[in-house]
Amino acid sequence: MSSNQKVHWDDRYKLGIDAIDTQHEKLFELVNRLFDLEDSNSDKEELRKILYEFSDYMKVHFRDEEEYMASIDFPTLEEHKKLHQEIIESIAQVISTPAKLNIIKSKMRIVSKRALIDHIMHEDTKMNIFLAEKEDENIFDISDI
Ligand SMILES: [Fe+2]
Repeated sequence: MSSNQKVHWDDRYKLGIDAIDTQHEKLFELVNRLFDLEDSNSDKEELRKILYEFSDYMKVHFRDEEEYMASIDFPTLEEHKKLHQEIIESIAQVISTPAKLNIIKSKMRIVSKRALIDHIMHEDTKMNIFLAEKEDENIFDISDI
């Protein structure tokens, strides 16, 4: 029943940047472990472990993604960092608020949909647009010589 709340990875979410795609896919896997927990038989330690692992890996991923963005001179890096910070804070908020497992699951479903699907599709894809534009400029430069 609870597995209905899972957020499913789709190849449409691939950016074509292997290191980042692999991390995104792993984040889906990590958060889905939460939805595999049985409501009736919830183990607090296990729940804690899953939430912290997801949160910690999200931080690692954002750091790596920001480093990558800096390496390509992504122009709106600072704004993008703020979005990452907001996501980290929303996860921290869920973790620090005591609630029943089904409530935590519902909150995390909203957070992970926002943090993974919406963020990848609407924000991370701006990297691809930027890289494609850069490539176009290069082509123009070459033909200009
Ligand atoms: Fe991002």
